[in-house]
Amino acid sequence: MPRGWYLVGCGRSALDDAAFGTLVHTAVEPVLSAVGRGANDDFLRRCSYVCGAYDDAQLYRTLATRLAAHDLTFATGGNHLFYFSIPPGIYTTVATHLGMSGLAQSTGWVRVAVEKPHGHDLASARELARALLQVVREDQLYRVDHYLGKETVQNILMFRFANSIFEPVWNATYIDHVQITVAEQVGVGDRAGYFDQAGLLRDMFQNHMLQLLALVAMEAPAVFDAAAVHDEKARVLDAIRLHPADVVRAQYVSGAAGDVRFKGYHEEHGIAPGSRTETYVAARLYIDTPRWRGVPFYLRSGKRLRCRKSEIAVAFKPVPRSIFRPLTPKDLTPNLLVFNIQPDEGVALMIQAKKPGPKLCMCDLNLDVAYREAFHADPPEAYERLLLDCMCGDQTLFLRQDIIEKSWALLMPILDAWCADERIPLHTYPAGTWGPSAADALPEQTGHSWRDLCAWCKNHDLHQRERTTESS
Ligand code: BG6
Repeated sequence: MPRGWYLVGCGRSALDDAAFGTLVHTAVEPVLSAVGRGANDDFLRRCSYVCGAYDDAQLYRTLATRLAAHDLTFATGGNHLFYFSIPPGIYTTVATHLGMSGLAQSTGWVRVAVEKPHGHDLASARELARALLQVVREDQLYRVDHYLGKETVQNILMFRFANSIFEPVWNATYIDHVQITVAEQVGVGDRAGYFDQAGLLRDMFQNHMLQLLALVAMEAPAVFDAAAVHDEKARVLDAIRLHPADVVRAQYVSGAAGDVRFKGYHEEHGIAPGSRTETYVAARLYIDTPRWRGVPFYLRSGKRLRCRKSEIAVAFKPVPRSIFRPLTPKDLTPNLLVFNIQPDEGVALMIQAKKPGPKLCMCDLNLDVAYREAFHADPPEAYERLLLDCMCGDQTLFLRQDIIEKSWALLMPILDAWCADERIPLHTYPAGTWGPSAADALPEQTGHSWRDLCAWCKNHDLHQRERTTESS
């Protein structure tokens, strides 16, 4: 953190400074207690709250007075970061008021961090950008995709471009296919109002899934800075070929995981009767660049699946010939590289090895590195890094507007088709499973199958852990 800082909460809830301080304190207590008692008091002194309606000019006048006073007390040099974690319908209202009240100007820098959703479709994403850019410049806007702040996600580029052994084989000559899974065990929870309008394609694919894909597939940027990284992401998004027929959608019905029972989507609180919102999406796509010609990428994400498990699995081609007769290349399991994004963050590489003993027996050897063990600590929260980067003025881990628009443009034919044609099936799957069987066809049509993540979850004791969490 910079030396000079303060935090002003701003919202409709009727809180005073003390109540807000307690709220924040509870959230950061574990970190503060590690630093010591003095840090605690100092932290609370810097937290205050302003209450008001977002469309009331008075709120912004009060805020401006508060910021001016705090800038002097805490020596921030007038640097202001506005962080919008508000209903998307009022982004424009708040931004306009920041502009009208003069808050978008300061003696220091002014930056605005905006949470997703970045629009509901291509047109609204453009409209939102237009409204925000009337108040601040693109280089002042920090559009958040919190997956980019996750340690394991940041690691993808380091892994690819800071190690000489992977980049030479990172292409269609050696890579057979790639699978990206973001599986959640939670359902819609208390976000039905938002989720039932959005659906999984908008909620997870438009941002997190396509960002993971871009990091795996993009070319090396000239340098590791925001502009160069964003340029390469934009290029790879342009090269994606995704046909609506290669997308499977589904919705969960009631089911169970182990001995825990879950409601179906329609029974969840706040879901519109007869809702056809998808809670699961699987897709097969291709990237039309020389590097990836013919390599299928399989993506799947869903709510109320068997486990919480996010990973990127890069499956290599089998060896061209086997000297280990009578074993043929098909008898040797191809290499597999897995980025374990969460939980149990880490990287695993599966290789073939000789099983110790007098006979020539091959076996799978999993070189599995868990961050927690390798670095003797749990990885930091994504938002720790993201908020720090906003303060430091580094946009690398944020979304540039053209990237948002390209992602929407890619998904619009699917969203339009779903909207226009009721005959496109909305499959179902029992909550607590790995999704609809209809999704199996996507990899099977191209000679592959989804990875069996249950085996991984069992090895990592995840089923047991999640049962405990769910019932607690
Ligand atoms: C959010 C989505 O962006 O990401 C949620 O809106 C989803 O629906 C969440 O649950 C998943 O994030 P994480 O960090 O828990 O994997």
